[in-house]
Amino acid sequence: MALDKPYKNVPGTTIYDAEQARKGYHLNQFAMSLMKPENRARFLADQAAYLDEWPLNPIQRQAVLDMDLNTMIAEGGNIYFLSKIGATHGLSFQQMAGSMTGMSEAAYRDMMLGGGRRPEGVRLKDLDGWTPPSTEKATTMRQDAPAKYTSALFTSHVPAIGAAMDLGKTEEPYWKKVFDGYQWTRKWAKENTPDVVILVYNDHATAFDASIIPTFVLGTGAHYPVADEGYGPRPVPDVKGYPEFAAHLAQSIIQDDFDLTLVNEMVVDHGLTVPLSLVYGEVEQWPVRVIPLAVNVVQYPVPSGRRCYELGKALRRAIDKWDGEELNVQIWGTGGMSHQLQGPRAGLINKEWDNAFLDHLIADPLGLTEWPHMEYVDEAGSEGIELVDWLIARGAMDDQFEGEAPDVDHRFYHVPASNTAVGHLVISNPVGRTGLADDDAGAAESVDEALAPEPAATAAVVNA
Ligand code: DHB
Ligand code: FE
Repeated sequence: MALDKPYKNVPGTTIYDAEQARKGYHLNQFAMSLMKPENRARFLADQAAYLDEWPLNPIQRQAVLDMDLNTMIAEGGNIYFLSKIGATHGLSFQQMAGSMTGMSEAAYRDMMLGGGRRPEGVRLKDLDGWTPPSTEKATTMRQDAPAKYTSALFTSHVPAIGAAMDLGKTEEPYWKKVFDGYQWTRKWAKENTPDVVILVYNDHATAFDASIIPTFVLGTGAHYPVADEGYGPRPVPDVKGYPEFAAHLAQSIIQDDFDLTLVNEMVVDHGLTVPLSLVYGEVEQWPVRVIPLAVNVVQYPVPSGRRCYELGKALRRAIDKWDGEELNVQIWGTGGMSHQLQGPRAGLINKEWDNAFLDHLIADPLGLTEWPHMEYVDEAGSEGIELVDWLIARGAMDDQFEGEAPDVDHRFYHVPASNTAVGHLVISNPVGRTGLADDDAGAAESVDEALAPEPAATAAVVNA
């Protein structure tokens, strides 16, 4: 069940993966600094002094001074980063590659002229006892997994909710109606604090501008500052990451055919901080580590609900493969519900559609994956597309891996908060069962039942 790293044993080869990248982070970033002519000049003038500016370990530092590429690579360096150091010294790629082989420059050049190194005997498949790695994907849960996915939490992340808290307006009648829907959650959250929250949200042209549009971003950093979205940063704590677990997830998910973008440094916007505020209130420090998972819903094409659901399944396989310390893991899905922030149709709210979405999210997530993009935009407004984020947490739940259906602990729906319909749901896998379930949970307290298109399905869940 452990992570597959079949490439570890390719002879004479160090593969640069998330683990190596963590080890070599500062070494590689130092190398990148040499892309500026003024930095190259300073480095060449006094290498030791320049290196003092970078937190390299002593082995890395000495390897740079010795221009010892093998050691730099063992210490987490990657050849494309390190080539900037070689280039600064005037070395060609052939000189750099040759320097790692134990051959003289002339002998290496002659070998290349003679057709290059033959592969026989230096391949993995030439090693005794080598068997090809399995590419099978788990369809069932790992029962003894040290990391347990206990509960999923879904919520809107309207920035005005954060502002209402930051400005002390939560008791005003308009806002009280919103915050009342989170009272159950605050109590539950105090008694059920996980070790880590994988927080799925969408960046709102904050960390990512028009220069880069990654579809799925996993935060593998140690710490994420709170963004200034134009109003000044929210007065809330910065967010602590969990690099080891995040790197593990990245490794497994990418091997599972999802091409994530990994980000070590980024600011986090209201999409991530408002849910934390809603659940944990005003605190000096967030009580959980957070792994941000940002989904592009700004520039089309955006990922489909089905793709998000499948990412959730890959995420669960990754959680199950963790062999480290025991962890209580929650996955949150944030954004939505119906809202449109642009054009003459701004202000659109579709209560019926939102509640059908909640019903299906609870009882029929696979069916929900059939709903195309157009459905979200057409029915729930252009920004209602944020709801695809929710499918990730749901795809990872036990019942999608032949386990039991989740308990519905709490459900809330309210219009409006700013331009938005607020939706909020807490559902738990059996391992996260607390007995705290809201009496009205599945009954969707502030929802007009007559408006829900599939009351039978809702009732089935309530009575389950
Ligand atoms: C609003 C809602 C959002 O989800 C968002 O990202 C920005 C604004 C709003 O309703 O005002
Ligand atoms: Fe949003």
